[in-house]
Amino acid sequence: MNAPLKSILEFKNVTMSFGGLKAVSDLSFAVGEKELVALIGPNGAGKTTVFNVMTGIYRPQSGNINFRNKSVLGLKAHQISGLGLGRTFQNIRLFKNLTVMQNVLIGAQPHFKYGFWEPLVLSSRFLETEANAKKYALELLGHFDLKQKQDELASSLPYGEQRKLEMVRSLIGMPRLICLDEPAAGMNHKETEDLMNLILKIKKDFDQAVFLIEHDMKLVMGISERIVVLDHGCCIEEGSPEKVRGSKAVIEAYLGADGGSL
Ligand SMILES: Nc1ncnc2c1ncn2[C@@H]1O[C@H](COP(=O)(O)OP(=O)(O)O)[C@@H](O)[C@H]1O
Ligand SMILES: [Mg+2]
Repeated sequence: MNAPLKSILEFKNVTMSFGGLKAVSDLSFAVGEKELVALIGPNGAGKTTVFNVMTGIYRPQSGNINFRNKSVLGLKAHQISGLGLGRTFQNIRLFKNLTVMQNVLIGAQPHFKYGFWEPLVLSSRFLETEANAKKYALELLGHFDLKQKQDELASSLPYGEQRKLEMVRSLIGMPRLICLDEPAAGMNHKETEDLMNLILKIKKDFDQAVFLIEHDMKLVMGISERIVVLDHGCCIEEGSPEKVRGSKAVIEAYLGADGGSL
């Protein structure tokens, strides 16, 4: 396997079954520090399940997952997020009736270091933490052209901006790795192109690793440093965009699945 020099995320022989179905099967791969890796594969290949097992939503039956050299198995989702693993969801999960700013601040909660009682008595540590979080939230919203919309309801934003808001919410925790599940889904050509630049900007400005699930091949081929290809829960190819584009196994997996092409 073409493993990066220093890994931030490592899957070692991970298997996750639902009943008789192996959604992820004996899967091993790694994402390097500050690397931009895409995970692709036909519908049902197991991509979202990969995200779900590494973020603590499901516990795999076997294998190990290390994040920053620490096993995340058995940890709760908020603990894994607290270690610096941020994610967005395939189906947007915003609090639609809260404002843009409130949605971002919710993402900061797992990272606050005050005691559970401090918000009740408005302790100075609580107030200072809140003020700092709000300041950073405004900075991030500025990066994403959402600052002017901080007081609008999340539900009032157009679709592309809701996706961007989800990214801001995961960035407020200052993750070391950000995982995006089909960020371009439902976006038009122009929005997808803007998103491509935004992902590159996130990687550069925040100096972090990005792990991306995506169907839009132009986006994947355009920005990925390395690509991992899944089919039926197994890694069938791994390497540079050029290598994956020319891979017989990959072309067969896509053609066999839905007649699509790379
Ligand atoms: N919670 C679950 N319960 C049962 N089956 C699931 C569950 N989550 C995923 N699966 C199944 O696992 C397989 C992989 O799903 P998924 O990881 O969502 O694929 P992808 O994201 O690549 O489209 C699919 O067959 C899906 O139906
Ligand atoms: Mg999926």
